[in-house]
Amino acid sequence: MPVSADPGYALPNSWDRANRRFELLAACHDAASRRRAAALGVGPGWRCLDAGAGEGSFARWLAQRVGERGHVVAADLDVTLMADLDAPNVEVRQTDLTRDALPRDAFDLVHTRLALIHIPARDALLPRLAAAVRPGGVLLVEEDDVYPVASTATGAYRAAWDVFLQTMGDGGTDPAWARDLPQRLGALGLTGIDAESQVQLFPGGSHPAEFWSLTWLQARERAVAIGAAVEDLDRGRALLADPERWFHGPATVAAWGRRPRRV
Ligand SMILES: C[S@@+](CC[C@H](N)C(=O)[O-])C[C@H]1O[C@@H](n2cnc3c(N)ncnc32)[C@H](O)[C@@H]1O
Repeated sequence: MPVSADPGYALPNSWDRANRRFELLAACHDAASRRRAAALGVGPGWRCLDAGAGEGSFARWLAQRVGERGHVVAADLDVTLMADLDAPNVEVRQTDLTRDALPRDAFDLVHTRLALIHIPARDALLPRLAAAVRPGGVLLVEEDDVYPVASTATGAYRAAWDVFLQTMGDGGTDPAWARDLPQRLGALGLTGIDAESQVQLFPGGSHPAEFWSLTWLQARERAVAIGAAVEDLDRGRALLADPERWFHGPATVAAWGRRPRRV
């Protein structure tokens, strides 16, 4: 059994540098998420759920996109970073996705990003997210998978990833879950499934480098608690500051499919 100081989510939004970490996350991921949602037709009048909305950057964009006739529910375990999200077409909902009821057949779009891999009950949650989509609506799931790091990282960078993954694994993160997302959506009976995998490749000092550096800093306390080699995390953070170096990060696996219409 792993020993853990706190068996809950290892990267809580209450961290004092969480705002900067979410800014960087948005800088790394929002453009691709917006492109995918726009290609799926998200537009005026859509009713959307962003499950595990974090600081709400994607929910804010959705709110603009769906306009005053549309509606966005931004749900998260910890909604404090969305305190300023007061657009009339947005409802910020404090929700534990693993325990609280989700509406059924309710949304034109259900979206989740970088949340499910961290939720140990992800396999039970995914069908409930699909059931929240109205018949004909879309489920869009975007999650990181560590396979590019596993196949390319060496030396001190690899050692830092190993410690980070050990630390996150103690809290129930599965860094290899997302690669099978298309099959997972297919098993739920969704149709028109499509997917893409976008691999991060970035220099030290860039937004993704700062994102991973801050993420490893936040994970440090948990790493100490489980007796992991935190000095490897620290060495990895020093490397990420070097603009002469380039790094592969995880892939973001995005997959989407539609609820079949009732006949
Ligand atoms: C890495 S952040 C991603 C946030 C956002 N989706 C984004 O991409 O900017 C993961 C989010 O999942 C939320 N989360 C983790 N477990 C949850 C649960 N059981 N119910 C609801 N939200 C949860 C966390 O609070 C956090 O805001």
